[in-house]
Amino acid sequence: MNYETILVAHRGPSALITLNRPDKLNAMSLMMKEEIIRALRDLDADTATRAIVITGAGQKAFTAGADIHEFRERTPMDQWRMYDHGTLYHAVDRTAKPVIAMINGYCFGGGLELAMACDIRIASDRATLGQTEINIGIIPGGGASQRLSRLVGLGIAMKLALTGERIDAKEAQRIGLLDEVVPHARLERRTFEIADRIASKSAVAVRLAKAAIRASARLPLDQGLRYEQSLFALAMSTQDKEEGVEAFLEKREAKWKDR
Ligand code: COA
Repeated sequence: MNYETILVAHRGPSALITLNRPDKLNAMSLMMKEEIIRALRDLDADTATRAIVITGAGQKAFTAGADIHEFRERTPMDQWRMYDHGTLYHAVDRTAKPVIAMINGYCFGGGLELAMACDIRIASDRATLGQTEINIGIIPGGGASQRLSRLVGLGIAMKLALTGERIDAKEAQRIGLLDEVVPHARLERRTFEIADRIASKSAVAVRLAKAAIRASARLPLDQGLRYEQSLFALAMSTQDKEEGVEAFLEKREAKWKDR
């Protein structure tokens, strides 16, 4: 598949999507957003891909957010139609395979919203993060008003989105926005260690676990627990449950069938 604004590479069982406009700090144009949506859909359908990593090209940025140049001509109806077509953030959210944000530098505005839509966020110690839309007179439109408070709590979400301040990776990890921070030189190795470890599990179990945990952001506790029980019961029906239990009892490695 040919893309103009992103690169897609396969690294063993994991796939890497690289936002590729380094001279613009990987600012996300509409074309880039559409290409990421397409790549996610294709990788989700590709049986050889078991985990997906998203990062930015170059040494400076994951992404500096939506392409601000494109805001100039945009009308309210343009924006409305875009939402009707389904957003990048929704596309990440509905990807059944695990998606990991490998945050290698600046991560602002829509870039932070992209990272928050992912399942796991690993960052370089050089990363800087911010919900910066307020600095250009707008508000977050890619999910931050809902996802940020779920990750860091209402007060800190308010502080970040209303001040537009930038925070370093250490502070972002402290408040729960990042799951791991590693020295810049080790970012790729550590991220793929995690991706490949997930890829070594039963894909059907990973899928069910992801669906159950994702639901916790949407459902009240009693419904969420019931949903988990349904998926757990479903897991009892898989060939990989038979294999995993047998392999444990026979003290050998499991050979997953992903069914
Ligand atoms: N949209 C479009 N272009 C962007 C961009 C964005 N979000 N962020 C950076 N760029 C472009 C700059 O216009 C510049 O292009 P040019 O060389 O053609 O002028 C290039 O990327 C480099 O940016 P520059 O500002 O020169 O780099 P810097 O290291 O001095 O500053 C930032 C980096 C990220 C602090 C600064 O670019 C910035 O504040 N960007 C906007 C971040 C933001 O608020 N994003 C949310 C948007 S809703």
